[in-house]
Amino acid sequence: MSSSLSPEDAAKSAAANRAVAYVKAGMRVGLGTGSTAAFMVRALGGRVRKEGLKIRGVPTSTRTAQLAREVGIDVITLDEAQRLDVTIDGADEFDPDLNLIKGGGGALLQEKIVATASDRMIVIADAAKQVEALGAFPLPVEVIRFGRDTTCDAIARVLRQADVARRDVTLRMDGDAPYVTDEGNHILDLHLDRIGDARRLAADLNQVAGVVENGLFIGLCDTVLIGHGDGRVDICEHS
Ligand code: A5P
Repeated sequence: MSSSLSPEDAAKSAAANRAVAYVKAGMRVGLGTGSTAAFMVRALGGRVRKEGLKIRGVPTSTRTAQLAREVGIDVITLDEAQRLDVTIDGADEFDPDLNLIKGGGGALLQEKIVATASDRMIVIADAAKQVEALGAFPLPVEVIRFGRDTTCDAIARVLRQADVARRDVTLRMDGDAPYVTDEGNHILDLHLDRIGDARRLAADLNQVAGVVENGLFIGLCDTVLIGHGDGRVDICEHS
């Protein structure tokens, strides 16, 4: 571990380095997005270059694809891979059942498609991401641009019936303009503070016309590797 890393980055790096040990020759690997996933992509590239590890990676965003190519990973599309052996990705929150909030980095749609196509999903995180109940982190919902305000109103109606502690919705911005995802959509961030029934909320949100996908990952994650600033890694497995 490099001493130049902040404790938070050292924790992310520790989790990322442990995760890439799960990758074996010949695997098709989903490559997550975000600052923790970037440590993993670099570590995996290190194994490709130093060990000659033969793998193919399916990135979950244009920025991850660029980084993966830079570090020497053979990049293919999900449709070329069809099925993935493992996906390694970060998360914004995870609960005791290993349900997740993702999408803080705006890549939730590709991340969920890739995770769903994987035999195993490993999440890498620092301990700050561990929560008793999801919802303190704003829940990202990707919506198409057409009729966005109407979709927002429909989401507000869903929230009025939902078991949540707060019901504020904001449009994610990138400077003065709405943030645009890799798929050309916008993101609404739902400020809920606490989600009582994440599985139901995920299903109800995806019933709204105009919603492309939400950032609740329910029953997708198998393992969480929690990195610590001193280099330790705790392993949480789905029971
Ligand atoms: C990207 O869209 C997200 O799902 C990230 O995986 C999540 O936001 C975690 O990012 P960090 O590792 O940067 O905290």
